[in-house]
Amino acid sequence: MLEARDITVRFGGVIAVNSVSLTVGDGEVLGLIGPNGSGKSTFINAMTGLVPATGKLTVGDRPVPLGRAGAIAASGVLRTFQTPQVHDDLTCLENVLLGLPDRRLRSIGVAWLRRRALMRAEHGRWAEALDALEFVGLADSAQSPAGVLSYGERRRLELARVYAGKPGTLLLDEPAAGLNHVETTNLVKLLHEWRGRGGPALLVVEHKIDFLEELCHRLVVLELGRVIATGEPAAVWADPKVANAYLGVVAEDPSVQNSLGKVADNA
Ligand SMILES: Nc1ncnc2c1ncn2[C@@H]1O[C@H](COP(=O)(O)OP(=O)(O)OP(=O)(O)O)[C@@H](O)[C@H]1O
Ligand SMILES: [Mg+2]
Repeated sequence: MLEARDITVRFGGVIAVNSVSLTVGDGEVLGLIGPNGSGKSTFINAMTGLVPATGKLTVGDRPVPLGRAGAIAASGVLRTFQTPQVHDDLTCLENVLLGLPDRRLRSIGVAWLRRRALMRAEHGRWAEALDALEFVGLADSAQSPAGVLSYGERRRLELARVYAGKPGTLLLDEPAAGLNHVETTNLVKLLHEWRGRGGPALLVVEHKIDFLEELCHRLVVLELGRVIATGEPAAVWADPKVANAYLGVVAEDPSVQNSLGKVADNA
């Protein structure tokens, strides 16, 4: 379980995330939504130590220091990026191996003395990386440079890297952005399959409503860095504050209520 309390991120005079509290329960899929610039990516950046933040982060029952990316990852919280972060010059396999660091053998001297153990560990890492590529359907590209992949395949490669890292909680920043309908449907299937195998709790930032409706148990809505609504998807879509945030119009306007109703119905 991941619990964030009063998370605040300031950039100069801008408060990008303003005292946000939320909880992602064991096995839960929580959607984090909101208009452009409402602080969703910044919140994920704060949760993974990439920007300075104040507040409290608890993973399981343990407090985890904000601002320390290594400590947060070690607590089992991993993430993907709004724009997939892969290394074009490395092979797909090497990209996944980056998500499986072996920090036990640090010096050449120790590595020489413990070379058998090192080789065993290395074989294990390669097997896990290949398994992750297999899971996302990229096993055939294991030895190809990531630079030749399509956009959708780059997204899957990033997913393979975090799959290999066996996160307890995974933060996905717009995982379906730039994917076509078929790719989006396949991603939903993949995430369901992972969850079926005891995969991580998910915090998903996404604009695609179908995607959210397929996956999320609850939604949290941000506007200008603040939480304005939390709850089950149907209740959140029906909330006039959410209509206001998205459409920037008077929420009581029946046509707005109507269009949001349709969105929810279609999803
Ligand atoms: N590194 C930064 N330095 C200064 N301001 C930033 C920085 N990162 C984000 N911001 C500002 O913080 C606010 C929130 O941005 P953020 O990227 O978190 O929004 P978002 O909800 O992820 O939007 P989108 O849906 O477009 O991805 C915006 O006003 C943005 O300009
Ligand atoms: Mg964003």
